[in-house]
Amino acid sequence: MTAGAPAGFYGLVEGELEELRRRLHDVGRGAHPTFAAAAMHLFATPGKLLRPTLVFLSARFGAAGAGGMTLDLAESLELVHTASLVHDDIVDRAALRRNVPTVNAVWDQDVALIVGDYLFAKAYALAAVLPKPEVIAMVAQTVFALCDGELTEISAPARMPNESEYLERIELKTASLYAACCQGAAILADAEPEHVAALGAYGTNIGLAFQITDDVLDLVGDEGDLGKEVGRDLAEAMPTLPMIYAVADMDGDRRELSRRIVAPDKSPGEVRELLAAIRASGGIERARERARGFHDAAVEALGRLPERPERDALRDVADFVLARER
Ligand code: FPP
Ligand code: MG
Repeated sequence: MTAGAPAGFYGLVEGELEELRRRLHDVGRGAHPTFAAAAMHLFATPGKLLRPTLVFLSARFGAAGAGGMTLDLAESLELVHTASLVHDDIVDRAALRRNVPTVNAVWDQDVALIVGDYLFAKAYALAAVLPKPEVIAMVAQTVFALCDGELTEISAPARMPNESEYLERIELKTASLYAACCQGAAILADAEPEHVAALGAYGTNIGLAFQITDDVLDLVGDEGDLGKEVGRDLAEAMPTLPMIYAVADMDGDRRELSRRIVAPDKSPGEVRELLAAIRASGGIERARERARGFHDAAVEALGRLPERPERDALRDVADFVLARER
């Protein structure tokens, strides 16, 4: 699929997505004017809405199907996601996301911090009235996981992690939310326990494939397609899987490349040189292969679900996550 091409999997849930977009557009209504302006700024470009799409598709596997509470869960988890990105952009000192300046860039870090808090509180207010306590608990557990993942990332010692340390971190910071979307929606819709488990496994695996692909795109992506700056992970001295594989692939001095990757305060020239070295290595292709493995595990989990158009759509989401350019 090419960047920007419409993805067919949205079609089945377009009505629910339309309602969600309307709700997101109104998130700041009646709130503090600074929050209202920041929410307007954020949701003017709502992103790919992959997580709500997963909520809506997964809910169709339950006897109760999709209803108003599915929309509440979708909105809640999309707000958790947006809150985490607003906070992450402070941590990463990022200036651009979805091709628009970040909240920290338009306002400042302090405003972005409170805007993230506000969004997170809105998310929890929506989750708190869901009829199933286990789903409410799942939303809270997911936020713990995101925070654990982010804290692991920012407090990591300045050295290359190994593959399993990296996978553990991205399972917390990214895959946990994908799993919650699929599993939470299925529980809410009264799906069979084996279908809930299959959707949970699917969500975790596409979440892992998504983050590895994200980390590859940070090194090889096109800034216009991606809507954010390329090379941020190197600039922030954040080692990712393609970098781990690039080091492992090297014939020469591995310690020297590792040291350069995790060095703080790199000059733009040094970031450019490292980008070139990593792009020239086999690290990118090996990381893409690893992402493909998680994609395949996600597709395998779908085999445990009944055959219906929503299952095909979930398969298309998995393909999109792997092939995406933004
Ligand atoms: C993006 O990663 C960041 C995350 C997936 C999680 C961030 C989590 C927190 C900041 C914890 C706080 C959470 C809440 C709900 C307030 P990335 O930097 O690899 O991706 P990017 O390139 O898109 O920035
Ligand atoms: Mg970031």
